[in-house]
Amino acid sequence: MPELERKIKEKNAVVGIVGLGYVGLPLAVAFAEAGFRVLGFDIQQKRADLVNNRESYIASVSSESLSRLVTGKILEATTSRERRREVDAICICVPTPVTGSKQPDLSHVTHELEVLSGHLQPGQLVVLESTTYPGTTRELALPILERSGLKAGKDFYLAYSPERIDPGSEKYGIRNTPKLVGGIDSTSAGLAELLYSQVADKVVAVSGTEVAEMTKIFENVFRNVNIALVNELAQLCEKIGISVWEVIDAAATKPFGYMPFYPGPGVGGHCIPIDPYYLSNKAKEYDFHTRFIELAADVNEQMPYYVASRIMEALSASGKSLRGAAILVLGVTYKKDTADIRESPSVKVAQLLREKGADVTYNDPYIPVLQLGKDTLESVEITDENLSSADCVVIATAHDCYDIKKIVESSRLVFDTRGVTRGLDRDNIVRLGE
Ligand SMILES: NC(=O)c1ccc[n+]([C@@H]2O[C@H](COP(=O)([O-])OP(=O)(O)OC[C@H]3O[C@@H](n4cnc5c(N)ncnc54)[C@H](O)[C@@H]3O)[C@@H](O)[C@H]2O)c1
Repeated sequence: MPELERKIKEKNAVVGIVGLGYVGLPLAVAFAEAGFRVLGFDIQQKRADLVNNRESYIASVSSESLSRLVTGKILEATTSRERRREVDAICICVPTPVTGSKQPDLSHVTHELEVLSGHLQPGQLVVLESTTYPGTTRELALPILERSGLKAGKDFYLAYSPERIDPGSEKYGIRNTPKLVGGIDSTSAGLAELLYSQVADKVVAVSGTEVAEMTKIFENVFRNVNIALVNELAQLCEKIGISVWEVIDAAATKPFGYMPFYPGPGVGGHCIPIDPYYLSNKAKEYDFHTRFIELAADVNEQMPYYVASRIMEALSASGKSLRGAAILVLGVTYKKDTADIRESPSVKVAQLLREKGADVTYNDPYIPVLQLGKDTLESVEITDENLSSADCVVIATAHDCYDIKKIVESSRLVFDTRGVTRGLDRDNIVRLGE
């Protein structure tokens, strides 16, 4: 039995988390709350300092829990490279973006693996959590880590376990979301399964790292494809003159074989618009074209343009030109009730309207300042005056705190991209998908 197994069971293992972002910080807190000493690593000194000063910068982590864990010396953050030697298991949660030409950018992962290989210790378990294409752990991580002179599966253990968080969700967190693990061999898989069973109620072991990597991407492709399908249907419903929202609600009454997805201004965040490209690029190595993925990306990436053109039409129907129109965009994050604007289609809509000459202001309780092209905008209050002075109020991301009824009542024209004005019978509303 590897020494690590005993250490995990006795909660004597020290857990390292690399990348203290949306994924890494909550995971670090989960392990610390489960009774493990946790060392968090980040390249940003500011982030390490914030953690050590007990100040959270991630919505799902409270400063109170950081305070308790840091004060109790259970959780500590550092930018030190060498201190990777102190941990027994290390989970890598660094970003996996795409380049400008939509190629996978594994530079953060590679950088971390190179750092780690310089400090790898016998008996350590390394788990890659970052989303990536099938083959990354075995083909990329393993050879870099073996530059340490240690042999994978014998001297150290290596596994892949994708993060499956649902940002902003109050229902699902690390504890009640089943955690997938795949190892490069059965010992690595067993150790990773044991480690994650300390923080997740259910751990699902699959036959290898490739299956775990592919499953994570498949889950995100599944969302991307279904959102694209409903975005296309929304456009067709407009032409036919029926409500896509009513169609979705009606279809959702079928108790089997259907799951609702909703249209909107596009897809955003660090996962859905990006991860599919990891798979489509990998597929090209096999002369294989992932047509669904490319089609879905195409439809979803067009949505901000489509929404901007519908806003222009709505303004024009009320006798206004987009150029010079005052437009108040409500919600700029990619998803409601989160503070994440990465790849946000709502930002894209605001930018497109501005490029076409509209005078754009915005409100977002989570984003006080927004960089829009070369300009820096500040979130404005939702007041009767701001609503009524806008030629069009665009509900781009419908945060729960928005009082939709009041917004509609005080506005001259509302363009609703999220279907949240349904049930309000007023003729100043134009909805996507109707
Ligand atoms: N955000 C999500 O909802 C989500 C969900 C599931 C999976 N993922 C995946 O998890 C991974 C991390 O995403 P995230 O949203 O947490 O990213 P993030 O940008 O919020 O956080 C990443 C952190 O890693 C740090 N970092 C970058 N390179 C580093 C290095 N070499 N060493 C140490 N720290 C480094 C950054 O400073 C940052 O603090 C990505 O692969 C992403 O696809 C994200």
